Amino acid sequence: MKIDFANLKYQYKLYKDEIDSAIHAVLDKSNYIMGEEVKELEENLQEFTGAKHAITCSSGTDALLLAMMALDIKPGDEIITTPFTFIATAETIAFLGAVPVFVDIDEKTYNIDPAKIEEKITPKTKAIMPVSLYGQPADIESIQTIATKHNLKLIIDGAQSFGSTFNGKTDSNLGDISTTSFFPAKPLGCFGDGGAVFTNDDALAQMMKSLRVHGQSKRYHHKYIGMGGRMDTLQCAIVNVKLKHYKKDLALRQEVAKKYTEALQGKELVLPTVDEKATSVWAQYSVRVKNRDEVQAQLKEQGIPTAVHYPMPLHLQEAFEYLNYAKGDFPISERVSDEIMSLPMNPYVIDIEIEYISEKM
Ligand SMILES: Cc1ncc(COP(=O)(O)O)c(C=O)c1O
Repeated sequence: MKIDFANLKYQYKLYKDEIDSAIHAVLDKSNYIMGEEVKELEENLQEFTGAKHAITCSSGTDALLLAMMALDIKPGDEIITTPFTFIATAETIAFLGAVPVFVDIDEKTYNIDPAKIEEKITPKTKAIMPVSLYGQPADIESIQTIATKHNLKLIIDGAQSFGSTFNGKTDSNLGDISTTSFFPAKPLGCFGDGGAVFTNDDALAQMMKSLRVHGQSKRYHHKYIGMGGRMDTLQCAIVNVKLKHYKKDLALRQEVAKKYTEALQGKELVLPTVDEKATSVWAQYSVRVKNRDEVQAQLKEQGIPTAVHYPMPLHLQEAFEYLNYAKGDFPISERVSDEIMSLPMNPYVIDIEIEYISEKM
């Protein structure tokens, strides 16, 4: 058997006619930049998430930049975040000259541990940036309470979690600004780069719309230092089609995760846990194994691809050496990085594949 990890080809085939005709509509109109499909997608995203404003942008990375620029994050400001995430979370903080301040994760959800946040707050702290890792929001309720108490902004890096919920609200509809990514392998992916920011605040929305087009107020008049951060019309047209099917895709992802959990009971693995207040969109189904290299090699031989998200926590990355963290500073993130392994995950993993994978584990 040869199993596909994200199965993007199948997903395209499934919606091929609709996607092709959406692409051709854009080609026919040649409205490549800020065409009507962009606004259409933003309205559809608002409806799906419940957020008052959805603003598309060039990637999940640029979404984080737009969020922090709109919140006036300045060099030297501190932002509290998790070291167990993709580099973009902390990289964008550093890119703006601000300082990522890491807090270890909860051992069950792998998201930032709210109980460890307050001890890291200083007069320079401006915001908290939790990540909804593998598709599951962090404990946003506790984090929002801390943010409100200390007058801090809350930015949710929801690159992996579009459509997930905490206490019944999507994580795009929580915090001051929430972001997402439409990178192809994300649960709601386009066919290139894309992303979005979400807010319920009219002024922040206005600011991010302007920052996305070089801080423009009207054509060739620039009020702020912004960026070229638009999402292409073609990519928006593709996401518009995929969003129509997304609820169904999410239900399938839930099913796949449930079947994995049932099939893998009793194995020497730590299986994923979802907080009772949260739902996950299962961007990844990640388990922990003690002898990961061996298991990965063994599975590869049997045609089962795996991936590691992520093998090295950010405080140990060379790029962040200047922050002067050391091995042992965030023991849970370090342990999980050594053991975590993601199994093939997409809405179309079939029962015999799950059985086969569980047999070989
Ligand atoms: C947690 C997290 N933040 C930010 C990003 C950046 O998104 P993009 O690749 O769309 O720039 C990613 C993408 O993998 C991510 O996983």
